[in-house]
Amino acid sequence: MTCGGQFQNKVALITGASRGIGRALAHTLGRGGATVVVNYKKNTDLAEKVVAGIEEVGGRGLAVQADVETVEGVHSLFARVRDEFGRLDHFVSNAAAGAFKNILDLKSHHLDRSYAMNLRPFVLGAQQAVPLMDAGGRIVALSSYGSTRAFPTYAALGSMKAAIESWVRYMALEFAPYSINVNGVSGGLIDSDSLEYFYGVPGIADRASVFDRVPKQRPGTAQEVADAITFLLSPGAEYITGQTMVVDGGLSVVAPPFFADTSAPLSLPAHPTGEK
Ligand SMILES: NC(=O)c1ccc[n+]([C@@H]2O[C@H](COP(=O)([O-])OP(=O)(O)OC[C@H]3O[C@@H](n4cnc5c(N)ncnc54)[C@H](OP(=O)(O)O)[C@@H]3O)[C@@H](O)[C@H]2O)c1
Repeated sequence: MTCGGQFQNKVALITGASRGIGRALAHTLGRGGATVVVNYKKNTDLAEKVVAGIEEVGGRGLAVQADVETVEGVHSLFARVRDEFGRLDHFVSNAAAGAFKNILDLKSHHLDRSYAMNLRPFVLGAQQAVPLMDAGGRIVALSSYGSTRAFPTYAALGSMKAAIESWVRYMALEFAPYSINVNGVSGGLIDSDSLEYFYGVPGIADRASVFDRVPKQRPGTAQEVADAITFLLSPGAEYITGQTMVVDGGLSVVAPPFFADTSAPLSLPAHPTGEK
């Protein structure tokens, strides 16, 4: 997406912006003129590369290492934003990680970690973002199709994503008087390191057969999700709050029997050309 300078003078904080969706978003907002805080946990070199890419196109970036799984990490991240800029326009809660395990194999430390990593940084982050958004602002949190659907080994993370979508609604209500919009973006199968990791879990179906079930017949790209977030951060989304936008190539609307499982005459017809 080209942003035509619409994020000029905006300060945006993205958690987990050294790779994947966060990185694509950081570059997009940078091209649009934003100052982007690129948070990461381990990959300093990748985060610095994102910042360099933003600065190459005339934007400003700041890489900030902070482990948002810890309360101290979230606090130190926002303290840095406060010290550097004294304000914030956009907060995107993007970083996530999970234990991909069957429910009977989940230990209490997996549950604690799933909450600490995936839900708490969004809520604690929003609490710290709001006082910095004295001119109004936008908050976006990343969800996934495991929030409303169930699939193997995703219970610990999917349930946190469902909670994120609920918090989006509560925050939207409570922050609307401050001119702060809160929305979610829920991705389907998106090409990224985490998708690679998921399909490496023993027993998970072959990825090609899963992509056949997606009406668009392919995984999405990090850029396609970043573009949806960019729209929600843009002036055009001023009247949208409390919603979760689904970016999944149609995956969430399909039900069996799938076209891939059917044979003629149920299989997908040729494109109608208008000829009789
Ligand atoms: N990929 C998909 O198929 C998909 C689908 C739907 C939704 N989503 C959601 O989209 C979001 C981004 O996913 P992604 O696949 O783009 O991620 P990703 O490529 O796996 O990248 C994860 C990012 O989060 C950072 N990170 C990990 N743990 C962190 C921590 N404790 N503190 C701070 N940063 C941390 C990583 O930093 P380092 O580089 O330093 O490790 C990295 O920048 C997630 O919320 C995910 O659930 C993804």
